[in-house]
Amino acid sequence: MHVAVMGAGYAGLVTGAGLSDLGLMATCVDINEGKVRQLAEGKLPIFEPGLEELVRRNTQAGRLRFSADIPAAVKNSLVVFIAVGTNASPDGAADLSQVWSAADSIADHIEDYKIVVIRSTVPVGTAAQMRERISSRLKQPVEFEVASNPEFLREGSAVEDFFHPDRIVIGSSSSRAVGIMKDIYRHLYLIETPFVITTSETAELIKYAANSFLALKISFANELANLCDAIGPSTDVHVVIRALGLDRRIGPKFLHPGPGFGGSCLPKDTRAFCSIARKFGMSLRTIAAAVAVNDEQFLRVIEKVRQGLGSLADQAVAVLGLAFKPNTNDVRESRAVKICEALLAEGCDLRVFDPVATAPGSLVLDGRRFKCCANPYEAAEGVDALVVATEWNEFRVLDLAKLKKQMRGDLLVDAKNILDLAKAREAGFRYCGVGRR
Ligand code: UDX
Repeated sequence: MHVAVMGAGYAGLVTGAGLSDLGLMATCVDINEGKVRQLAEGKLPIFEPGLEELVRRNTQAGRLRFSADIPAAVKNSLVVFIAVGTNASPDGAADLSQVWSAADSIADHIEDYKIVVIRSTVPVGTAAQMRERISSRLKQPVEFEVASNPEFLREGSAVEDFFHPDRIVIGSSSSRAVGIMKDIYRHLYLIETPFVITTSETAELIKYAANSFLALKISFANELANLCDAIGPSTDVHVVIRALGLDRRIGPKFLHPGPGFGGSCLPKDTRAFCSIARKFGMSLRTIAAAVAVNDEQFLRVIEKVRQGLGSLADQAVAVLGLAFKPNTNDVRESRAVKICEALLAEGCDLRVFDPVATAPGSLVLDGRRFKCCANPYEAAEGVDALVVATEWNEFRVLDLAKLKKQMRGDLLVDAKNILDLAKAREAGFRYCGVGRR
């Protein structure tokens, strides 16, 4: 079976490569011809564990192709996945311009039965709107379906999540479309992956609900940590979280406190979910609260540095980590970047290191007081304070004595709570975590 995937970004590229590995003939199409050329040469614009090998293997086997020829990809495919970006508009609503442009391209080149599958995260009702839009744009009557198949891929483990999803969600009222979608994911069906078959509106809602609940858990953990900080040394948020997680109804995941959640999904999807609710005349007060907590959480890290140093202006600070999470080079909405921006705005001299991610323009602008370093120890040279802002594994095994020797000061703010308190103190640091004693 031939499928096309429109949009060769994180979700589209992993989806196309994953489907080709399941035995389908997949064509990833993108309007960016430069990106298509790079991908066809096996050069991936994103850092995703396992993806390079997956693309190489399936491109060589002739199952995976990259193209900018949208008309041909639409004509030659029975199923066309739309996996383009749906970034946030200023009011939080999802910007669907790329989705509509993809739908119009499909409408302009569809000649026989197709299933259009919306993989992107889109507001409730988008699939129904797309049915209308394509129908009204068709040059001649053609039978087609629009289904919803949201992705639940995490950056840094997207390939793993594609082949071992907790569930496959398919939103369509057409038994024919559902049958074809089940056939596409047959291999996952055979390994007992649960399938949730529902309406497209419910499928669209599931995606926002899932990401928003994850965000809610994180903001709840962060408020617990902030409360532990306020109560004082007799409380430790890690003990609270561990005890919470032992309750099977709660579970231990997504309860790790820190500087807040970042990335291209949770911040965008929580705001979009609140915007969707407003459109239906109600407000999601729990999610709005999770967003409000998150918007301020990274500032608590700045306050810890300020309290530890007495002031921030003209202080030298090292920040370890720029990526929004480990195992990715993505700095979108990264809390580590927000920490760097806030420290620069307060007049700090900043030295940063990240094993993979590069500093965004917002930081490099201020070249006088900003330096990208080659390793954590270079970043620590002569600084008054050091902040761990991304939980890269290599930061868990830092030589703390060597780090301390490099520094001018002794303040260590562990914003991700990944270091051992006793070892940090033994090395001569004034250790400050998030809600930890
Ligand atoms: C998320 C969802 O997990 C995924 O299912 C969806 O498809 C896309 O959005 P992603 O944004 O790639 O995936 O990363 P995720 O691992 O969810 O982390 C998001 C942010 O939350 C990161 O900044 C991370 O540091 C933070 N986080 C995560 C916490 O602060 N605490 C936690 O316990 C977990």
